[in-house]
Amino acid sequence: MQKTVLVIGASRGLGLGLAKQFSSEGWQVIATVRNSQQADALDQIPRVSLETLDMTDAASVDALAKRLEGTQLDVLFVNAGVAGPQDKPATQATEAEVGQLFFTNAVAPLRLAERLRPAVNPERGVIVFMSSILGSVETGPGMGMSLYGASKAALNHMTRTFVSELGETGLTVLSMHPGWVKTDMGGDQAPLDIETSTRGMVEQVTRAVGHGGHLYLDYQGEPLPW
Ligand SMILES: NC(=O)c1ccc[n+]([C@@H]2O[C@H](COP(=O)([O-])OP(=O)(O)OC[C@H]3O[C@@H](n4cnc5c(N)ncnc54)[C@H](OP(=O)(O)O)[C@@H]3O)[C@@H](O)[C@H]2O)c1
Repeated sequence: MQKTVLVIGASRGLGLGLAKQFSSEGWQVIATVRNSQQADALDQIPRVSLETLDMTDAASVDALAKRLEGTQLDVLFVNAGVAGPQDKPATQATEAEVGQLFFTNAVAPLRLAERLRPAVNPERGVIVFMSSILGSVETGPGMGMSLYGASKAALNHMTRTFVSELGETGLTVLSMHPGWVKTDMGGDQAPLDIETSTRGMVEQVTRAVGHGGHLYLDYQGEPLPW
């Protein structure tokens, strides 16, 4: 039976790559963009349907949840995220920058997952949150981008709370590190291309089906320290 994935934040970078990779493996893909004018690349991919969503806007999330009523998702992949004020330490970033970073990377993904959870197959579904190795409290500090890393650590923390409150379920939850990848966010120096990272992530998601619980993994399936 054909499987369905919802990729949040698929206009470019890893989200667009995930839409391509899932599609090439025969999945039905629902891909979200903030601006429907930025969907040219997605329009070229077979089996992709488009939705408009700003993950930080509660009304937008609610409207998407209503449009998805009656659709069962095998995978919800919450990929969207921002880098924030990259080169500023916590002492220099403005309150607005910090608020936007933590709301987008840590709070909005969990609110969205709570709202869309009824659409995810409760027996064999997978919910993936795009984390980062920089969010590991053990290994992230000292690797740079400390505020961004802290926002992903907050995402990991909130994801563990989300999982602890799931109760009896067949759902599997992944906190995923895509590797350091050449995208607008990852920059030109990154060693990995989008295709290598997304092929690996889709493989890990496929393997996780039916596993249950919560795993923090990289795109190659290596478990990461919290
Ligand atoms: N690249 C790396 O090396 C790397 C490493 C570790 C983790 N990550 C994580 O991987 C994810 C994707 O990163 P990327 O490198 O592909 O970044 P990117 O090229 O900057 O793309 C970010 C994507 O997120 C979307 N987005 C941002 N804010 C959103 C919002 N409020 N609502 C909906 N969509 C939103 C963007 O949409 P617009 O086009 O509308 O802005 C875009 O599609 C992020 O969570 C990032 O933190 C990346």
